[in-house]
Amino acid sequence: MSQQVEDVGRIIDGKAFAAALRARVAGQVTKLKEAHGITPGLAVVLVGENPASQVYVRNKNKQTAEAGMNSFEHRPPDTISEADLVALVEELNRDPKVNGILVQLPLPDQVSSHAVIGSIDPAKDVDGFHVTNAGLLAVGGQGMVPCTPLGCMMLIKDVLGDDLSGQRALVLGRSNIVGKPMAHLLLAENCTVTIAHSRTRDLPEECRRADILVAAVGRPEMVKGDWVKPGATVIDVGINRIETDDGKTKLVGDVDFEAARQRAGAITPVPGGVGPMTIACLLLNTLTAACRQHGVAVPEPDG
Ligand code: GUN
Repeated sequence: MSQQVEDVGRIIDGKAFAAALRARVAGQVTKLKEAHGITPGLAVVLVGENPASQVYVRNKNKQTAEAGMNSFEHRPPDTISEADLVALVEELNRDPKVNGILVQLPLPDQVSSHAVIGSIDPAKDVDGFHVTNAGLLAVGGQGMVPCTPLGCMMLIKDVLGDDLSGQRALVLGRSNIVGKPMAHLLLAENCTVTIAHSRTRDLPEECRRADILVAAVGRPEMVKGDWVKPGATVIDVGINRIETDDGKTKLVGDVDFEAARQRAGAITPVPGGVGPMTIACLLLNTLTAACRQHGVAVPEPDG
């Protein structure tokens, strides 16, 4: 059987890839401690009691500790003022034990997320959301890259190899967190990039041209099977909870997985695809940030 045929419909195991990445980062953290006495530290700020955010933050803290890093949690009430939240961020900016700062979004209405993200020291902005880091990504400088697009790029390269030159890539969604940074990463790899969104004309046809299709719109199963170019690599960033016929709920992506899988060369499932990569990349960014702040090289991974 040729490689081409074997690859058809491959399901990309993001869960396993993320576990391997976390293990690699944990090994690098051990080396950093041994060689330089540095333990990377990540501060997570969770405002209020949003249940979904609480789950994310619990997972982040657990995985940070498992990677051998220090984890600092701050949980101000959802009545906090913008000035007080900015003051907390500035305190974390000054704390040498804190190498990475993540302020969990969304924030309550009285707080401007722009103002809060803008107050994070760009060198500690492990989410890569600060305008300085967004700008560095756009102009090709060395900043912090947002975790979800970084994880998507690793999965794409795992399928297609490191050379993505000339591939047609379509990014569905234009958010600052995923769509725009994803487009910049693909462009930096010499892909021909289209950003599609709710106003795009003839979206199915645009999608059918894509060798790499990244869906990040937050609309359950919007991308149909016949929107997928045969053999394409499909990366589904969506995590949507929908009700099933029996009154229960389940998670689905932005892509109709079963139908798209019939045509895709490789495709991420939901759950177990892109999702686990986000925290793994957060740990990687925290390691990178700690090394840069101390002026030391990131230790070579084992293997
Ligand atoms: N809320 C949902 N996803 C994210 C994320 O990646 N980072 C932050 N800070 N908040 C989020």
